[in-house]
Amino acid sequence: MALVFPKSIDKYVRIAGGVLGLLVAGGAGAFTYFSHPRVSDTGYTPVQPVPYSHKLHAGQLGMDCYYCHYTAPQSPYAAVPATEVCMNCHTRVKPQSPRLAKVRDSYASGDPIPWVRVHRLPDFVYFNHQAHLAAGVSCVSCHGRVDQMIEVKQVQPLSMAWCLDCHRHPEARVRPAELVTKLDWQPTRDPVEIGREIIAAKKLNPPEYCSGCHR
Ligand code: HEC
Ligand code: HEC
Ligand code: HEC
Ligand code: HEC
Ligand code: HEC
Repeated sequence: MALVFPKSIDKYVRIAGGVLGLLVAGGAGAFTYFSHPRVSDTGYTPVQPVPYSHKLHAGQLGMDCYYCHYTAPQSPYAAVPATEVCMNCHTRVKPQSPRLAKVRDSYASGDPIPWVRVHRLPDFVYFNHQAHLAAGVSCVSCHGRVDQMIEVKQVQPLSMAWCLDCHRHPEARVRPAELVTKLDWQPTRDPVEIGREIIAAKKLNPPEYCSGCHR
């Protein structure tokens, strides 16, 4: 057994067993779970506690994604910025605006702004921002034109089939790593050719085996 299956195979048996159990036992409950947009679907757009707009900050003001999501290129997580980052500007920009009242309260009290999470994978899936960004996969491939969104919404299914589709054919979706936050970047020659060169140079090899994403 040990030679044929990776060590963690029992985990998939558990995952598969769990899903099967849920479907059998849950019935209508399981249907509700899987059809809730938070776990499965595109279009999920929760209302946020502060009317922060990416279209204004990342689009019109031209702020780079890494100004706020600076953990993304160096860790698995692209964490949402702390209130201090907002106050770099908003101690001076619109300091009286009622639309920023909760930002000022958070800054004064030290309690974080309760942003509502938009994208979330199930716990049994491993994902890593740093690996994708270093490989040259742009935010736009997975999150769409966030720089044109007033409120962030999920535009990709984040399903296993969706991950695998790119892992099998990443050529057209890798670019030079320094351009990953340029969501409107247009290649000046065949993107597949550019991708092939980068994949060869960096020896990229996106996992298709189960334990790549289920560890
Ligand atoms: C001025 C700071 C700032 C900049 C610049 C910024 N963001 Fe954000 N981002 C936030 C904040 C705050 C949130 C949480 C509120 C929300 O979802 O709108 C967020 C949320 C997100 C989310 C949703 C996270 C989740 O909950 O799943 C994505 C995706 C995202 N940003 C991508 C980007 C991309 C791509 C860029 C560059 C084009 C960018 N951001 C630039 C501050 C910023
Ligand atoms: C680099 C500077 C900068 C940073 C950092 C920044 N903003 Fe802003 N923000 C602006 C500017 C400029 C405006 C537009 C002001 C105007 O309309 O005159 C603005 C406008 C806003 C508004 C609308 C205010 C109103 O009265 O219409 C909100 C809400 C806001 N920002 C939230 C945030 C949040 C939340 C963060 C942190 C995640 C943040 N901003 C970070 C520069 C910044
Ligand atoms: C290959 C696809 C992919 C790329 C590229 C990508 N993301 Fe994500 N992002 C995801 C997935 C999947 C999640 C949900 C992760 C989870 O639930 O564990 C996520 C979650 C987030 C979150 C919520 C906090 C977190 O880390 O879970 C933010 C913010 C975010 N992404 C911003 C960005 C920004 C900014 C970029 C570009 C610099 C980017 N992402 C590039 C797939 C991607
Ligand atoms: C648009 C293309 C694209 C999408 C979508 C994508 N990936 Fe990847 N992924 C890549 C590429 C390219 C690599 C290769 C990185 C390398 O070899 O260094 C990779 C590598 C990985 C790795 C190995 C890196 C590491 O940290 O061990 C994992 C795990 C992974 N992806 C998980 C996922 C999951 C889970 C999803 C879906 C939620 C996903 N990916 C969606 C392109 C993509
Ligand atoms: C590239 C990343 C990736 C690889 C490789 C991968 N998976 Fe998944 N898998 C996912 C993601 C993402 C989900 C969550 C899907 C969702 O929430 O809709 C998932 C979900 C599952 C589920 C839960 C049921 C479902 O479909 O939602 C099972 C069971 C599963 N995977 C088994 C496997 C097995 C067995 C393999 C190897 C043949 C494998 N996975 C390879 C990313 C991956």
